[in-house]
Amino acid sequence: MPNIKARMTPTHTPCEEQKPEGCGIIIFGASGDLVYRKLLPSLFNLYLRKLMPSKFYILGFARTEMTDEDFRERVREALVDAHEDTKGEILDSFLSQCRYTSGDYSDIEAYKRLQKKASGCEDDFSKKENKLFYLALPPQLHPTVVSRLSQSGLTVEGENEDPWARVVFEKPFGHDLQSALELDKHLTSMLKPSQIFRIDHYLGKETVQSILMLRFANIMFEPLWNQRYIDNIQITVAESVGVEHRGGYYEEAGCLRDMFQNHMLQMLSLVTMEPPTRFEAEYVQGERVKLLKAIRPWSERTLKENIVRAQYAAGTMDGKDVPGYHDELNIAPDSTTETFVGMKLYIDNWRWQGVPIYMRSGKRLNMRESEVAVTFKRVPHSVFGFESQHEMPANILVMKIQPDEGVDLTIHTKQPGPKSCMASLSLSFKYDEVFDTAPQDAYERLLLDCMLGDRTLFLSREGVEAAWKVVDPVLNFWRDHPEKAPLHPYKAGSWGPKASDDLLLRSGHLWRNPPDEHGTHFKSLAKPLLVRK
Ligand code: BG6
Repeated sequence: MPNIKARMTPTHTPCEEQKPEGCGIIIFGASGDLVYRKLLPSLFNLYLRKLMPSKFYILGFARTEMTDEDFRERVREALVDAHEDTKGEILDSFLSQCRYTSGDYSDIEAYKRLQKKASGCEDDFSKKENKLFYLALPPQLHPTVVSRLSQSGLTVEGENEDPWARVVFEKPFGHDLQSALELDKHLTSMLKPSQIFRIDHYLGKETVQSILMLRFANIMFEPLWNQRYIDNIQITVAESVGVEHRGGYYEEAGCLRDMFQNHMLQMLSLVTMEPPTRFEAEYVQGERVKLLKAIRPWSERTLKENIVRAQYAAGTMDGKDVPGYHDELNIAPDSTTETFVGMKLYIDNWRWQGVPIYMRSGKRLNMRESEVAVTFKRVPHSVFGFESQHEMPANILVMKIQPDEGVDLTIHTKQPGPKSCMASLSLSFKYDEVFDTAPQDAYERLLLDCMLGDRTLFLSREGVEAAWKVVDPVLNFWRDHPEKAPLHPYKAGSWGPKASDDLLLRSGHLWRNPPDEHGTHFKSLAKPLLVRK
C-alpha cells in the first residue's frame, strides 16, 4: 500500500516542564539491572534537561557492599554506555550527588545507617527533607522494606506533606488477586494512599499517553469511537527477545501475569475508556478502572475458546538458531509456563457492546512490534460500482507504540485513471521525523511525575484489583483444568501458534501483522485492496 507522509506542522501548546522541589532519591536494590539500565540513565537525562531539583541526592541501598566511590564508578559505566555524548563535567557533577550504603533489607540497624547517611546528604545537597524511595526489588521484599522504613520513621511526612515521603513500587503487585489484596492491606497499614506510587512503565511511554491525546484532542475520532463504527480492535505487544536471564522470575510469572495483568489491560483501558473530565489523576484513574470493571466476565466456554496459551520452541531468528523456552537458563525442562497469550474479550457497556477486542503478547515472536489497531466498519452502501459494500476495504487506524513510534491511518481515494478506480493509502506520521526527537523514556516521565507528586500515569489500588479480577479466573482455569487449555508450541521467530490465528478466523478476522516481504499488513487470507476499473 503506498505510504503518503502526512505533512504536519506541529502546533505546540505550552510544553514547559515543571521542576520538582529538592528531594533525595533512595533506591533499594541498587545493585540490580533495572537501576543501571533504566533508572539512573533516566535520572541523568532529567539532569541534562535541567529537570532534576536544584538540590537533590541519589542514595543507593542494597546488600552488596560498596563504597560511595565504587557505586559512582558503576553509575558512571552505566551512563557512559547509555549516553554516548556524556560530557565529563556534567557527568562528574551528577556523580558527585550519588552515595551508597549497604545492609540487609530486614535489619533495622541498616535503616538507621541509611537514615544517618540520608541526613548527611540532606545537609550537603537538599534543604528539604523530601524523600522518594524507589523499590527496585523482588516483590517478596516489598512488605519487609516498607515495614522497616515505617518503623525507622523514614516515611513519616510533615504537616500538609511538607516534607513528603513517597514510595515507588514496581510490578508485579501480588501473584494473584488474593495476594495483591493482602499486599495492599499491609502497605496501607504503614503508608497513606497518597504516598504509594505503583508503576506500570507502559503508562509512561509517550506513544501510550498519546492514545488519549489522539482520542480526546481531535473531534473526528470520538464520534466514531463505538460499536456503530468500529469492527474490532487489536492490541499486540510482540517481543523478539526470549526470557533472557530472568528465568527464575518468569517461571513463576508467565506471560499473562507479566504482560496482561498490567501493560496490556492498561493500554486497553486507554483505548476504550470514557473521556475523563480532566487530565488529572483522580479522573483518569477513575475512568480506567470503570473500563476494566466493564470487561465481560469469563464463562467456562470463553475461558476455553477465547484464550490461547503457548510456549516457544526452538526456531530461527535473523538467520540464527535460537533455543526453545525449555532450554533457557533456569527453566524447568518440563515447564508449562506460557510465553505467549492471545485472547478475545468483550466490553459490556453501551459504547463497546459486541465489538471483539483481540490482544496478544509473546516472547520470541517474529519482531519487536507493539501497536493498537482500530479497524472501522465498512461503508454501509457501495456507490462506486462494487458489487457490495463488503468489497470495500475498511479504514484502519494504527497507533504504533514501539519501536517505530507513529500513527497510520488507511484511507481510500480516487486513483488517477478510470472513473471508479480506487486506491488505498496510508496517511502516516513518525514521531522522530515530525518532532525531530525520539520519544523520551517511560521511566524519565514517571520519575519526574513522582517527584512532582502527579499520579495521573500511576496505577490506583482499584486499578490493580480490577486487572487481577480479569486475569485471576484465567489463571485458576489453567491450574484446575489444564486438559481444557492446552499449551500450544510455537516456533521462535513466528507470530505465535496456529491456534491464535484460528481464534480470529472463527469470527472472520485476521491478525494485523507488520509488513512482510510482500509489503502487506495482512496474512494471505486478507482480500487484496480493491481497484475496480
Ligand atoms: C516488563 C516485563 O514489564 O516489560 C518484560 O516484565 C517485558 O518481560 C517488558 O520484556 C517489556 O517492556 P518494553 O518497554 O521493552 O516493551
